[in-house]
Parts: sequence; structure tokens; C-alpha cells
Amino acid sequence: MREKLARNISIYRKERGLTQEELAQILGLSFQAVSKWENAQTMPDISLLPQLSRTLEVSIDKLLGYVSQDKPITIYEEEYKTPEYYWGTEPNKVCYQILQWMPPNTHLKLLDIGCGEGKDAVFFARNGYDVTAFDISDAGVEKTNRLAEKIGVHVDVFKADILDYRLDTHFDIIFSSGVLHYIKPDFRKEILDNYKQYTNPSGLHVLNVFVHKPFIAPPPEKEPNAHNWYSGELLTHYHDWFIQDSSEVIFDCNSSGIAHKHAMTKIIAQKIIL
Ligand SMILES: C[S@@+](CC[C@H](N)C(=O)[O-])C[C@H]1O[C@@H](n2cnc3c(N)ncnc32)[C@H](O)[C@@H]1O
Repeated sequence: MREKLARNISIYRKERGLTQEELAQILGLSFQAVSKWENAQTMPDISLLPQLSRTLEVSIDKLLGYVSQDKPITIYEEEYKTPEYYWGTEPNKVCYQILQWMPPNTHLKLLDIGCGEGKDAVFFARNGYDVTAFDISDAGVEKTNRLAEKIGVHVDVFKADILDYRLDTHFDIIFSSGVLHYIKPDFRKEILDNYKQYTNPSGLHVLNVFVHKPFIAPPPEKEPNAHNWYSGELLTHYHDWFIQDSSEVIFDCNSSGIAHKHAMTKIIAQKIIL
């Protein structure tokens, strides 16, 4: 939380064209106070947040690094509002591989990034992992909670935007399926470095990303905020980790009621510290 807030205060202060001294003056504080916030040495008093948010012209949510958009930004929000589970309730096949690679025979913390309606997060919780999950969709978060409740397990699920949310606690396994294409190419290194930093030694990253193929037509769902990866691109972020598995598949999809194809790269990378 402290690091996210520090980064956001600095980003939005600069976006508003304010120096640290100017911001401090508006808030009636010393320049050192603002400097300490931005270096994550201290955090602003909670009573200052409304004035800070007004001055920087961002919501408190956005300042705290959860969600920067007030409007839904996923085409899935409406789909998830129906009682049916859009992606079903069966886990992705790769979840079984995780059970093999790192079985939950010790207390293992797992993060599911872009958990959708929770089929995978709930599967992991059911199998004994300590699961945290987030998604941008309110309806997805609600359905994840509902599915967990139905199965009788707990998933710590919340709403967050992958572009704003950064980790500040460690996980053993970071899992994400079909979501990282919402990160613009320019932000990928910074975000993946954050995930790598907050992974325990010997921890795993298990990631699926949609990849661009010139011979596959764009999907029927128009998503202006989606940016497919290139083949091999994901691997370049893990040159310093051990690659347990890496593959690429082309598969049929009917997600919008219109048959189409996707290409997807999967990697299972392990943080090896010698
Ligand atoms: C293709 S679905 C995959 C869902 C889930 N991982 C699964 O396999 O069932 C993509 C998911 O990414 C979520 N999403 C879209 N933009 C996002 C963002 N900026 N931050 C977090 N999640 C996002 C959508 O709400 C959706 O649930």
C-alpha cells in the first residue's frame, strides 16, 4: 500500500505540473513531508486524503492504487451479470499442472490475476492453497465470492485494475490466464518486474497470454484496451528464471457466439536463487 501510494502521489503530482514544494504549500505542509511520502518513508495522514485527491484530481481509490477507472472497462462486466458462469466452473487444464509442480503440502500463497468469475481461484482454494485473486469486473468479483461460498472455501478476492495494482506482499505462485494482454507493451516490464520481485524463492509464475499471429483474424469482441503479445515475448521477461515449461497453441473459441480462433503462449517459470 505504502509503495503504491508513494508512486501514485509522485505520478499525479507531476501530471498536474506541481513540484513537491508546491504540493506541500497547498496542503500546508513542509516539502520534506511530501518528499517522504514519495520515497515511501511515511504515508499521508488519512485526514489529508480528500484534499490530496482534490489537488491531484484523482479519486482516493486511484491514489491508493486499486482502480483508476470509474466506468467498467471490460466487455465481460455485462456477461458476468447473468446467473450462468460465462467461462464455466471447470478449472483451466494448467491448474492441474500447478498441483503437480508445486503441490500444496505446505502453506502456499497463490495469486490469480484477472480471476474472471473465479473458476480457477476456487479450484486452487479447494485444493488447499491460500488464494488471493483480483479482477476489474465487479460482477466477476461477486461471482467468485459466490462460487467460493457454494464450495465452502475462502478466496480473498477484490476489484483491481492490473494497470494500477502492484504487489507489496509475497506469493509462492502467481497465476494468470488470458489477462496480461490488457497491459500495454510499455508497461509490461515494470509490472512483471513487480510480480517477480514479490515472488518467494522457488516460486512459480504460470501465465497464459494471447499472442498475435498474422494468419489469425482479430477476435469478434472489439476491445480497444487489448494488446496481444508476440510469440516469445513473455519468455524475454524470464531470462533470469528457470523455464519449466513453455508452449504455444491455437485453439477454437466461441466466447461471443461467433466461432473464432486464438493463439496463446503458456509459460511456467520458476524463481531459482542459487
Ligand atoms: C479472458 S477473461 C479470463 C478470465 C479468467 N482468468 C479465466 O480464465 O476464466 C479476461 C479477464 O480479465 C479481466 N480484465 C480485463 N481488464 C482488466 C484489468 N485492466 N485489470 C484486471 N482484470 C481485467 C476481465 O474482467 C476478465 O475477467
